[in-house]
Amino acid sequence: MNPIQRFDPASSTYTYVLFDPTTRDALIIDPVDEQLERDLATLREYGLKLAWTLETHAHADHITSAGKLAELAGAKTAAPMGCGIGTAGVQLQHGDTLRFGGQTLRALHTPGHTAGSMSFVWQTPEGGHVFTGDTLLING
Ligand SMILES: [Fe+2]
Repeated sequence: MNPIQRFDPASSTYTYVLFDPTTRDALIIDPVDEQLERDLATLREYGLKLAWTLETHAHADHITSAGKLAELAGAKTAAPMGCGIGTAGVQLQHGDTLRFGGQTLRALHTPGHTAGSMSFVWQTPEGGHVFTGDTLLING
């Protein structure tokens, strides 16, 4: 199982969509305001039902679309507790897990880029993925 990766060139932001291939329940990490339509199209294209929107940290370089996406797609919102994103419905603490279909994502507090930054671990049969936000950059 692999995440769907999307890129916003204006803010150099990677957004990830993870989903359970059986139930089609999905989760989106770091959605960007300007890419709301793109992300809704991705959900339609893959036939997904969005369960969660999720932030790795409070972003200085772009505005999140999490609130709008959650409202339009019927999802819940979650963000790291230490990031001061008061609008997120679930304030994540180190070790918390989120379920989407039969899949589980685990939150790890990884301060550095920002004090509240979190990384998210998705364990899959093939191994897994860690979504690090700006804490660890691709090829960094
Ligand atoms: Fe950042």
